Amino acid sequence: MGEFHKHVFVCTNERTGDDARGSCSPRGAAELVECFKTKLHEHGLKRIVRANKAGCLDQCAHGPVAVVYPDAVWYGGLVPGDVETIIQEHILGGRPVERLRIPPEQLTGRPLPPGLEGR
Ligand code: FES
Repeated sequence: MGEFHKHVFVCTNERTGDDARGSCSPRGAAELVECFKTKLHEHGLKRIVRANKAGCLDQCAHGPVAVVYPDAVWYGGLVPGDVETIIQEHILGGRPVERLRIPPEQLTGRPLPPGLEGR
């Protein structure tokens, strides 16, 4: 058995209440997950690239959100029509789809502290 070469994590979190950030589920996240699974299979990528439902990825204002690892490329505001583009250009072509990326300055992570760069 081999290993998966990439994972696509799609946030399917649903936040209740009136949090201004909103959440990904009401914006169509479940349909996105199914679209990724179906299209990865159609492209013969089953057991090579895995699409998974994820909890909140802490990029809520940009939902629906997906991240491709190990590339650490974050996509936001996705619609099902974007899935084929991501598979063609990023997964198969090796070039992230710049127009769909969350701008790095808007991501909520922090830079690595000194001594941990490059890990
Ligand atoms: S609810 Fe989807 S990233 Fe937070």
